[in-house]
Amino acid sequence: MATEQAPSGLERELERMLEIEKFEPPAGFRAEALWSDPAIYEEAGSDPEGWWLARAKELLDWETEPAQSLNDSNPPFYKWFEDGRLNASYNCLDRHVEAGRGDRIAYHWRGEEGERRDITYAELLDQTQRFANALKGLGVEKGDVVGIYLPMIPEVAVAMLACARIGAVHNVVFGGFSAESVRERMEFSEAKALVTVDGARRKGKTAPIKETVDEHLGDLDSLATIVVVRATGIECPMQDGRDVFFDEACAAADPTCPAEPMEAEHPLFILYTSGSTAKPKGILHTTGGYLTGATTTHRYVFDLKPEQDVYWCAADVGWVTGHSYIVYGPLANGATSVMWEGAPDYPHQGIWWELIEDYRATILYAAPTAIRTFIKWGEQIPAKYDLSSLRLLGSVGEPINPKAWLWYHKVIGGERCPVVDTWWQTETGAIMITPLPGITETKPGSATRPFPGISGEVVSEREGEPVSEGQGLLVLERPWPSMLRTLYKEDDRFIETYFQKFGDGRYLAGDAARRDSDGYFWVIGRIDDVVNVSGHRLSTAEVESAIVAHENVAEAAVIGQSDEQTGQAICAFVTLAGSTEPSEALQEEIRAEVAERIGKFARPKRIVWADDLPKTRSGKIMRRLLRDIAEGRALGDVTTLKDPAVMAELEGKIAAEEADGGG
Ligand code: WT7
Repeated sequence: MATEQAPSGLERELERMLEIEKFEPPAGFRAEALWSDPAIYEEAGSDPEGWWLARAKELLDWETEPAQSLNDSNPPFYKWFEDGRLNASYNCLDRHVEAGRGDRIAYHWRGEEGERRDITYAELLDQTQRFANALKGLGVEKGDVVGIYLPMIPEVAVAMLACARIGAVHNVVFGGFSAESVRERMEFSEAKALVTVDGARRKGKTAPIKETVDEHLGDLDSLATIVVVRATGIECPMQDGRDVFFDEACAAADPTCPAEPMEAEHPLFILYTSGSTAKPKGILHTTGGYLTGATTTHRYVFDLKPEQDVYWCAADVGWVTGHSYIVYGPLANGATSVMWEGAPDYPHQGIWWELIEDYRATILYAAPTAIRTFIKWGEQIPAKYDLSSLRLLGSVGEPINPKAWLWYHKVIGGERCPVVDTWWQTETGAIMITPLPGITETKPGSATRPFPGISGEVVSEREGEPVSEGQGLLVLERPWPSMLRTLYKEDDRFIETYFQKFGDGRYLAGDAARRDSDGYFWVIGRIDDVVNVSGHRLSTAEVESAIVAHENVAEAAVIGQSDEQTGQAICAFVTLAGSTEPSEALQEEIRAEVAERIGKFARPKRIVWADDLPKTRSGKIMRRLLRDIAEGRALGDVTTLKDPAVMAELEGKIAAEEADGGG
């Protein structure tokens, strides 16, 4: 007999709260908020270009102030603030130090083993200048690409800002990606130098990084220099004439390196992200517009008061969230941030709450997948800590289910903190759809409305007409300052991916969404072959190509399957070559292959052995049917299949797997 656990008091309360349709900004919060008048939407909407230009001047220091806002003479290659000149690192560092705020802490860094480093703006500026000079000494020039493959240590911010200081274009690769992925990204972008570490710590273990980098990138001709941060002190091979230690290069460098003013449209960074094909897309962001978007949204979405707040974005710098909301937005705003090296469950499951208590953090920005994990561990863990300093909570990266939203609001926020569910993408550079915490009534699960100066719509797939009821495609209707400028060295793919369907005036986000009777946006998820695992974006094609690299695999089809913990999980249908017999060991080998080629986070959670895959007569794999089958849904239209019997066979397999207790 199935025994059902009686719902706890909290669960009953969350159930009750599910009935509440809207949450008003708490009165105390609204009274103190930077923005509390909804007229801001009309003000920005009536003249978005003028409004954004005013934000660019309000929040940034320009060497030459721009007179121009948008240049749309060559759509969809839009330009912003083109006649202005500024330096991103100057805006993040020098101007605060010059204004007497050099002693303010930029990062409260905490290492996995409890190490503490409090880095002030003055210290960050000093290190950045030294490393900028070191890069110059190594031959890095304006416009050159510099790869950065680092864990969550302060040097990652120093490396990014040093590039920005001299006009080098950084290309950060998330530390969870494999060295093979780093190689691919360095090769595509013709990186001249790479900044990495000796080793990286994760939950008490140290993995050699430099050694692995050497194995995979050693023969890359364009890569003239590898800079190694000594983060763990483990032994690592160094190649004469190519490799240098970060600390030695900085110690030997001149301590002054004036920030070089850049044209507003000078490239600031490339960040590779997954698209519909196996080849990652190099999202290119430029200086003035990007910095305006990141700084404005960071200030007003989080209601940031730099003198009082202690802000913590718990993402990794290797993703766009880290670029915009750990490095550029917070530093440009002069914020004090928490930077945590490790995982949420090391050394214990209460570490996040311990950090919040210790630093009296006031703002927390995290992913729904983390929140769902905390729910699983139980509310008794955060209950042990004093979280009363918190005044605002943010969510990012994937849809947040109403239950998780309510738990976050109640258990972490003590019902006094507004929750901002922020929708955006690597491509958008900054938050696009979000509540304004002192203005917007929130609904759990909805990102609510576009930020002032941004206009979104949900349109029908065929005609592109606004959809008032039901689901459609999410589009952004006008250019905005922090939008991607192109895909690095792939202008055609840029047009094709984002603007071909509805024309140059409408950016196709790649998400499905719906709007409710209040006009609020509810983002459903990707419509392309992109999967979101714990907020990590992956292309099914990329995972497929890693799987078929295994010598015993003939063919593979990968889909995202809904998963309570990670939002989506990777499920792979695999056809083996020749007479290869399926086995547990083979499953592990396939997972290892994916870890080696992409990274551990991309390993398929579920592998289904398939004698054949459902294909159309033209040979296209019908992933839609595989998704139906994996989710246990009734099968959609199968009439276009070349061989409908394939599906019956697969259904049999899935049924057997379930009877086995697997899956
Ligand atoms: C995709 C972009 C946003 C920075 C981190 C991810 C999904 C993101 C939300 C949200 C629903 C969301 C979308 C989007 N997504 N935020 N608040 N609600 N979905 O950036 O790796 O470029 O991924 O993440 O599907 O297209 P990314």
